[in-house]
Amino acid sequence: MRVIGLMSGTSYDAVDAAAADLSLVGDSLVLRPLGMISERYDEELREALAAALPPAATSLAQVCRLDTRIGQAFAAAAARANRELCDERAELVASHGQTVFHWVDGGRAHGTLQLGQPAWIAEATGLPVVADFRPRDIAAGGQGAPLVSLVDLLWLRGRPGTPVALNLGGIANLTAPDGTAFDTGPACALVDAAARGFSGGRLAYDVDGALAAAGTVHEPLLRRLLDEPYYALPAPKTTGKELFHLGYLQDALAGFGWLTAEDVVATLTRLTARTVADAVRSVGATEVIASGGGTRNPTLMGMLAAELPGVPLRTSDELGLPSQAKEAYAFAVLGFLTAHGLPATEPTSTGARRPSVLGSLTPGRGGLRLPPPAARRPVRLVLE
Ligand SMILES: Nc1ncnc2c1ncn2[C@@H]1O[C@H](COP(=O)(O)OP(=O)(O)O)[C@@H](O)[C@H]1O
Ligand SMILES: [Mg+2]
Repeated sequence: MRVIGLMSGTSYDAVDAAAADLSLVGDSLVLRPLGMISERYDEELREALAAALPPAATSLAQVCRLDTRIGQAFAAAAARANRELCDERAELVASHGQTVFHWVDGGRAHGTLQLGQPAWIAEATGLPVVADFRPRDIAAGGQGAPLVSLVDLLWLRGRPGTPVALNLGGIANLTAPDGTAFDTGPACALVDAAARGFSGGRLAYDVDGALAAAGTVHEPLLRRLLDEPYYALPAPKTTGKELFHLGYLQDALAGFGWLTAEDVVATLTRLTARTVADAVRSVGATEVIASGGGTRNPTLMGMLAAELPGVPLRTSDELGLPSQAKEAYAFAVLGFLTAHGLPATEPTSTGARRPSVLGSLTPGRGGLRLPPPAARRPVRLVLE
């Protein structure tokens, strides 16, 4: 089955679309990558989204507009992926949507909201769409995240030692082979906020880690940032830009006087490296396999390697899964599981009472025709 996975993470920089040809062979799920494309959000939509995200207040009118416009952006990416990667022969779209709020209170997730109305995707492609992956896991008592952990577990099964999958998006999350999975804290979120803030919006991120490389870590600021209670919470735990946003950074900077952009970005990059490394050590990793946009920041990757002596740091590309598209491929897998009636969560990762078949389904132009339910979930993911 040819499935298009659509993802935009907490950085809300672009909609990533990955196409995969997936098939069940015995107890393996075989994935043949067909490629990926990335459609940047236009600047106006990006600004409207940024203005609506917490801690800002918004209106239901604005939520409706964003749901539509994000849905249209996802639809454009899906239609292009179907054309350019699938010869117009895709059979299913799996859309994560854009998280705008993840309601966590007292260590429990109570709700989560992803915008990007799937009707637009179904209308533009004619294909059935699986969307709204997270809420079902929350209804089953889980955190609704990390969902990619199941794909990581299937993918890294059988690899020697304790390989840990690490995604460096706006937020960093990891999956260990025993199913432990959690958000470690910010990956690029605070670095992006600082780069934007200091450059007056000219820079969306610290391109190639240049600012961080030119700066010096400010130890008192680093210590203050490391005092954040989130890092000491036990797993499973999730976080987002509800916590790690520009205002959070401004509060942390209060009282330190004037610091250069370079020094602040170097300190934030070190914060990411330190908190990720601590988390990686806490699960006994013997190897780290990284993915996400953060892998394109050589200063971050250098600091992370330095924080993890003796633990090899690789990117998922080396194992055959393009690091920019890993999450989009992972959602293609989750959508495939849903279409086959298979649960796509791992209770040890999300803290749910039981594994759930995820998502809600929007029929395609031909109505809702699903493959026959599969007897049992595959135990490994094999890349072809
Ligand atoms: N060339 C680069 N140099 C430094 N950072 C980069 C580069 N390319 C991407 N990034 C970082 O990756 C982030 C986007 O990563 P992505 O995996 O798309 O995250 P998300 O899943 O949160 O959208 C950007 O916001 C930026 O911080
Ligand atoms: Mg992104």
